[in-house]
Amino acid sequence: MSTIAVVSERFVGRTAIVTGGGSGIGAALTGALVAAGARVWCADIDPAAAERVAAAARGPGTVTAVLLDVTDAEAVRSLVDGVVADAGRIDLMFNNAGIVLGGQTHLLTLEQWNRIIDINVRGVVHGVHAAYPHMIAAGSGHIVNTASAAGLMASGLLTSYSTTKFAVVGLSDALRSEAGVHGVGVTVVCPSAVETPILDKGGVGDFRGRAFLLGAEKTKHAYSPQRLAEDVLVAVARDRARVVVPRRTRIGWLLSRIAPGFIERRMADYVRQELRAMDEH
Ligand SMILES: NC(=O)c1ccc[n+]([C@@H]2O[C@H](COP(=O)([O-])OP(=O)(O)OC[C@H]3O[C@@H](n4cnc5c(N)ncnc54)[C@H](O)[C@@H]3O)[C@@H](O)[C@H]2O)c1
Repeated sequence: MSTIAVVSERFVGRTAIVTGGGSGIGAALTGALVAAGARVWCADIDPAAAERVAAAARGPGTVTAVLLDVTDAEAVRSLVDGVVADAGRIDLMFNNAGIVLGGQTHLLTLEQWNRIIDINVRGVVHGVHAAYPHMIAAGSGHIVNTASAAGLMASGLLTSYSTTKFAVVGLSDALRSEAGVHGVGVTVVCPSAVETPILDKGGVGDFRGRAFLLGAEKTKHAYSPQRLAEDVLVAVARDRARVVVPRRTRIGWLLSRIAPGFIERRMADYVRQELRAMDEH
């Protein structure tokens, strides 16, 4: 029996909210949770996308599509409180919604900086602030925050994104060290490029995220969101602190701690090479 089949039993009847559930990683998480028998609220700022994901989900679990803007703290609270009122508890909170901005930092407007901080950082804070007290009261639950490998290893041309993802890693690690006392788990998800629409979004100037990220990893293929969703469910079932995938990212992360100067120089060289390539286009 596969690992995911074994851990699936842990999700039967569990209540879960997935933010940014209408696309990519959030859609894959929703699908995997429903397949594992969970009761899922698939929440997205794009309600039609959340509806499509809900309609496509298959399995013993259930799924409800909801409109949610994670920058709206009251809306996040009202969704979480509604799930608790309806189902009795919130077991799993996936703070996954996020955006990317890539390109030269001096080209970003303050509005763009504020927007990425609002969604990627405040959006996660709102989810934690709304769900964590219910979990403490229940003496159980698990918070899963989607950060990025860019939250473990700083990446030029993704400076605003890296800023927000380091914050999410810090929030998650710090919270984990106190949440365990209350029986609540915290996992932070730190993948490199995953094959989702975000790879083709958020480019400022001539920046192309897909080419930049795949080039940095020297690969043609981004990680599968379905595989990532399975990795995440396994990590939650085993109460692991971090999901860092694929393997080459774990190796890069290890190197960045052993030899930070080497990784920093490689990143600077790669940024220079990308800037030259952008100039030539
Ligand atoms: N795909 C990757 O390469 C990759 C790698 C590392 C981390 N991540 C992170 O994974 C998460 C999911 O990204 P994805 O790759 O699935 O991207 P995606 O663009 O496919 O999906 C993101 C979803 O979030 C929703 N969303 C955006 N703003 C929102 C808001 N204010 N409120 C609610 N929903 C909102 C979008 O409508 C979309 O459905 C993000 O936090 C992203 O930073 C992605």
